Formats: sequence, C-alpha cells, structure tokens
Amino acid sequence: MKRIALITGASSGLGEEFVRLMKSEEVEEIWAVARREERLRALQQLTGIPVRPVPMDLTEESSISELEALLAKEKPRIRYLICAAGFGKIGNYAEIERKDAARMITLNCRAAVEVTTIAIPYMQKGDHIMEICSTSGFQPFPHLNVYAASKAFLYRYSRALRFELFGKRVSVTAVCPYWIRDTEFIPTAKQTEGAGKIKDFPFASKKKTVAKWALHDARLGLPVSTPGPVCIIHRIVAKFIPSEAMMGLWELIRRI
Ligand SMILES: NC(=O)c1ccc[n+]([C@@H]2O[C@H](COP(=O)([O-])OP(=O)(O)OC[C@H]3O[C@@H](n4cnc5c(N)ncnc54)[C@H](OP(=O)(O)O)[C@@H]3O)[C@@H](O)[C@H]2O)c1
Repeated sequence: MKRIALITGASSGLGEEFVRLMKSEEVEEIWAVARREERLRALQQLTGIPVRPVPMDLTEESSISELEALLAKEKPRIRYLICAAGFGKIGNYAEIERKDAARMITLNCRAAVEVTTIAIPYMQKGDHIMEICSTSGFQPFPHLNVYAASKAFLYRYSRALRFELFGKRVSVTAVCPYWIRDTEFIPTAKQTEGAGKIKDFPFASKKKTVAKWALHDARLGLPVSTPGPVCIIHRIVAKFIPSEAMMGLWELIRRI
C-alpha cells in the first residue's frame, strides 16, 4: 500500500509549498490536484518524491467522482490530506458576480468536504488532515463576506470532524492564516469592482513560514493552527469582542 500525500490547490501558493515540505514526511508519492496541468507537472522539480498530477476542476461534481474512482483503483494510504484549493473575491454583495460567489462556496466548502469524505476511508492511525481555512473565519467580514463565511464553514466543519475521527486516531487541523503576500490569492481576490474596498494588506505573511508552521501544528495534532502573530491575536480578540464591534474595527483597518 503506497503512502501518499493528497494535496489540493497544489499548482501554486500554499499547496505548492506543502509539496516541497513533504520531503521530511513518510510519503512515497504526492498526488497533486488543481486545474493547471502544466503547473502540476512542474512540481516534480521541487521534490525528490514522485509527483502524480491529478488535473481537475474541483467545482465539477464529475471531478470528485473521478478522484474517488482513482482512490478505489490505487487504494493508497493517505498520510496527509491537505485541502488548500480555494479562492476569495473582495467586494460587497453587489460588487461580486453571482457566479463567483457561488463558485467560492462550491470550492471552499463543498469540494473540501467531498474530497475529505472520499479520502477518510484511506486514512489510518497517525495520519493527518489539514483544512486550509482562514483567520477571516473567526468573525463576519463585510466586503469579504462570502469568502469569510465560506471559511467559517470550513473551520466549524474541521473542528467537529476532529471529534468524529478521535476513535480512528486521524488528526484534523483547521489552518487559519492571515493574509499571505506571495501567493496568487490576493491578485485573484482583487479582480473585482470592489477591489478598492481593502486598501492594503499590512503585516501580510509569507507562504513558506505559514506552511512550515501549519505542518508543525498538524504533526502535533492541534485542532487549530494560527500560523503567525496577527492570526493568533485575531483568534483571541474575536472570542471576547462582539462581532458588531469587530466589524466596526474592520471598517477602520480596511481603509488604512
Ligand atoms: N493568500 C492568503 O492571503 C490566504 C489567507 C488565508 C487563507 N488562504 C487560503 O489558503 C488556500 C491556498 O491559497 P493560496 O494563498 O495558496 O492561493 P493561490 O496561490 O491562489 O492557490 C489556490 C490554489 O487553488 C487551486 N484552485 C483554484 N480553483 C480551483 C478549482 N476550481 N479546482 C481545483 N483547484 C483550484 C489553484 O490552482 P488552479 O488555478 O491551477 O486550479 C491553486 O493551486 C486557499 O484555500 C485560501 O483561501 C489564503
């Protein structure tokens, strides 16, 4: 039985970084999932571990069935499942196109749940699930509303799934980073009419630091990883300050 890491969103950003980091894990093959096949093929240059490109659009139901069939055929042991595929759009209800809002929910929520559901039967004691959520899941965020709500969904899902998997000894970590400056996420998020609603991204972190920190937390079996000082502070503050006040504070911060 081949020990693999199944990484979605592997063609760039955090996902690509996790591919690099797998060299220190007990993994014999990396299954790399995203839409851009050529980027997935290029991943082999980053690691000595064989990479298997699995090009697919996770918003399509047929892709999930295809992945499920591939798992049933190969019957690997999934040491790491890392759900990093996701995207966001900046703007209010009128500035984000309806189809973009729907796709955010489909990819960030439904696809993550479906991939996790089909992966769990191939996981055993000591294996790890990492759901890449966001610090935006800790409170409601006007002008980032649908994205933040999708990440709140994934955060809650991850936390309860961890409980459900206690008996199986598979850990589940909700990874909740603050802005990361060196991935494709921010440029994609800004391709909207409402892009100017968030002026700057102060104290944004780097993908290498975030991925290393998150992987370390997953190995420890932590329920939540806040891989950076800003998201640590945000998580604590959002527990004590009412959401209305947090949203008021955000109105100031987003204009800076
Ligand atoms: N960057 C940040 O500021 C930040 C902060 C907090 C949380 N996050 C979360 O971190 C995760 C990784 O984001 P990132 O920063 O690394 O951004 P990124 O560089 O844009 O990576 C996103 C990945 O998702 C894949 N993807 C997008 N749509 C897909 C689809 N329909 N089917 C399959 N794969 C798809 C992309 O590949 P293809 O285009 O090739 O399909 C890409 O590999 C996301 O879940 C994001 O929400 C990011």
